[in-house]
Amino acid sequence: MNKGVNPQDKPSQSANPVLPRAMRKLKAGICGIKMVTTGIKMVTNEPLLRSNTAGVIEAAARRFDVSPLVHAEDFIFHYLLNCGTPRETAVQHYFESGRTSAEQAASIFKEHVARPPRTILDFACGYGCVTRHLHHVFPGATVTGCDVLDSAVEFVSRGLGVRAMRSSAIPEDFAYGGKFDLVIVLSLFSHLPERTFSRWLRRLARLATPGGLVLFTTHGRKSAPHFGNPVLGANGFWHEARREHHNLDPLYYGLTINTRDYCEICINEIRGMQLIDYREGLWWGHQDAYVIQREGRLTSSMRPISRLLTILWRPR
Ligand SMILES: C[S@@+](CC[C@H](N)C(=O)[O-])C[C@H]1O[C@@H](n2cnc3c(N)ncnc32)[C@H](O)[C@@H]1O
Repeated sequence: MNKGVNPQDKPSQSANPVLPRAMRKLKAGICGIKMVTTGIKMVTNEPLLRSNTAGVIEAAARRFDVSPLVHAEDFIFHYLLNCGTPRETAVQHYFESGRTSAEQAASIFKEHVARPPRTILDFACGYGCVTRHLHHVFPGATVTGCDVLDSAVEFVSRGLGVRAMRSSAIPEDFAYGGKFDLVIVLSLFSHLPERTFSRWLRRLARLATPGGLVLFTTHGRKSAPHFGNPVLGANGFWHEARREHHNLDPLYYGLTINTRDYCEICINEIRGMQLIDYREGLWWGHQDAYVIQREGRLTSSMRPISRLLTILWRPR
């Protein structure tokens, strides 16, 4: 198997302007994704070997050295396949976009923390578009996925071989007591109603180890044009309870835009957490990235492998 990816082998992000735009629309939640029958055999536990697309998936996965398994209900994959670009390009973009997200998370962590994370939670991981790449960019870390969809949890666990657990619609019902050096939450807060927004932030903050980070994304100013620039409330929050996924209750998962001020107020209410980084429009070209850190320091381990990884983990 191909170990590691030569960056020069990677197609440029701008090679196909349609796909990044489609990805932005998808992540903005404005594409009205339908579960379509593609005629492609997609199964969870065996390689996809039947159709032309199966070969394309295998090739793309090999290029990034990740699992080629794609769940039949992976809405990101379906959308990309049906946005009018050649299949190869769409499939390539699925894998490339997942790797880019993983690399961005690693680069941000590196800028703020002197040693690599040992434990990572990919919260709201879906069907593992990003999760499958995390062990590449965080070698040596234990990765856990978490989602509210049973099928996603099962797929990430059995199909991708990544430890996974089920979340809940209500933050206070999520009883998990473990801690993580890094909690990644991509494109969840961009869908939460005001009722649960700050409660989920508080809940996820509790999962961070001392010195650990929570990285999350939201729809902000750069996303607003995708939704026709709706007028935000005086508090800097806009939400529409619309159905985004056939298995998700629109009362808990719709479409959200919020200002940085809104997030800062939520963050300031969480004891022991501090906003240490904010990057407008960084994710998929429009979602804002926030990084909050729990007070304290990530301790170093005396284990030789941890020491070696720390030495290799040089901030840029
Ligand atoms: C837009 S997708 C993002 C998937 C993945 N993070 C990515 O960027 O590719 C949002 C995900 O949030 C999940 N989700 C929604 N409500 C959730 C909750 N309460 N707890 C955990 N995951 C949730 C959905 O099932 C869906 O997989």
